[in-house]
Amino acid sequence: MDIDEAIYGRRSTREYTPQAVADQGIRRLIDAAVHAPSASNGQPWTFTVVRDQGLLDRISRAAKSHMLATLPAGPRSDRYRTSLSDPDFQIFYHAPVLILISGRAQGPWNVEDCALAAENLMLAAYGDGLGTCWIGFAQGFLNTSEGKNALGLPATWVPVAPIIVGHPKAMPAPVARKEPEIRWIG
Ligand SMILES: Cc1cc2nc3c(=O)[nH]c(=O)nc-3n(C[C@H](O)[C@H](O)[C@H](O)COP(=O)(O)O)c2cc1C
Repeated sequence: MDIDEAIYGRRSTREYTPQAVADQGIRRLIDAAVHAPSASNGQPWTFTVVRDQGLLDRISRAAKSHMLATLPAGPRSDRYRTSLSDPDFQIFYHAPVLILISGRAQGPWNVEDCALAAENLMLAAYGDGLGTCWIGFAQGFLNTSEGKNALGLPATWVPVAPIIVGHPKAMPAPVARKEPEIRWIG
């Protein structure tokens, strides 16, 4: 796929068919992810592939409670509070796969490195006809010891990018972009 087509065509996908994603397909996305740049070529990322829907349901419930208990006050939080309080809202949108990208340890650029890997993974998925969405709602909980235990992660790992993957039910509509603020110097 042409690079512009991938960059401009990728959308966060929140509706999936029940079709599974093949192991080979998941491995290819992870291969694209590890070709991202990283500080000093440190490649601090790890990948946890979760397909157990019961576990994803349990993590969704715990993550919603965690978010509700820790949300700061403000208009955006009020909007989040409504969906997080809805018992029918599953934060992973019942996607067949969650790929969690975590840093192997705390490090000065590990979060940036994992985020770059995540973007590569999402663009590659789009190129392969798959949908993805970064699930920030999961991050707070996954960074607690309870969250790490739920996935059997070592205590030193730092969950950064929980990305759901699946076959999209339909292509989501584009989301408008703001005019970028650009300062030219020189
Ligand atoms: C760090 C981060 C966290 C996000 N968290 C969520 C989330 O928890 N739930 C969700 O539905 N979308 C989430 N998104 C997706 C954004 O809402 C989406 O990227 C944005 O609306 C722009 O739409 P697009 O990705 O289709 O261009 C997240 C995206 C990022 C980058």
